[in-house]
Amino acid sequence: MQILMVCLGNICRSPLAEGIMKAKLRSRNLDWKVESRGTGNWHVGQLPDPRSIATAKRHQIDITDQRAQQFSEKDFEDYDLILAMDQSNYSNIIAMAKGIADEEKVKLIMDFDPDKTALEVPDPYWNDDGFEQVFSMLDQACDKVIEAFDKAAC
Ligand code: 4NP
Repeated sequence: MQILMVCLGNICRSPLAEGIMKAKLRSRNLDWKVESRGTGNWHVGQLPDPRSIATAKRHQIDITDQRAQQFSEKDFEDYDLILAMDQSNYSNIIAMAKGIADEEKVKLIMDFDPDKTALEVPDPYWNDDGFEQVFSMLDQACDKVIEAFDKAAC
């Protein structure tokens, strides 16, 4: 199973999603590939936002090995599941799809959470207080993604 987490800048939400998912997979001994991307290119090559690094660290997750990368058409070939953080990310990714097979790989991450209180993971870039909420939404959603694919995936 190969999963790509995608947000706008690849410095706040999707690096947290990547770090949370990798930690869960490690503890379950699941050998899935997980990376993250941004649809925008402003932060390419940069570390995650310091507030995402600090939030992950509070939960014993280190995301300082990550560097921002921009989503590209090739990612449709390399991943089975492309998880968008919000509707705008979803639309940006779908606009780059070459056909139905590409489109079917793209989902909103919150669609996996039946207990979801929101349809989208809110962008915390302009809100210092938003990072813990983002962490907790992603933490729950990642469990549901693993539940959905654990039996089917190899
Ligand atoms: P992210 O947050 O999409 O969760 O990484 C953002 C990061 C940077 C910007 C916007 C959102 N920006 O406008 O630079």
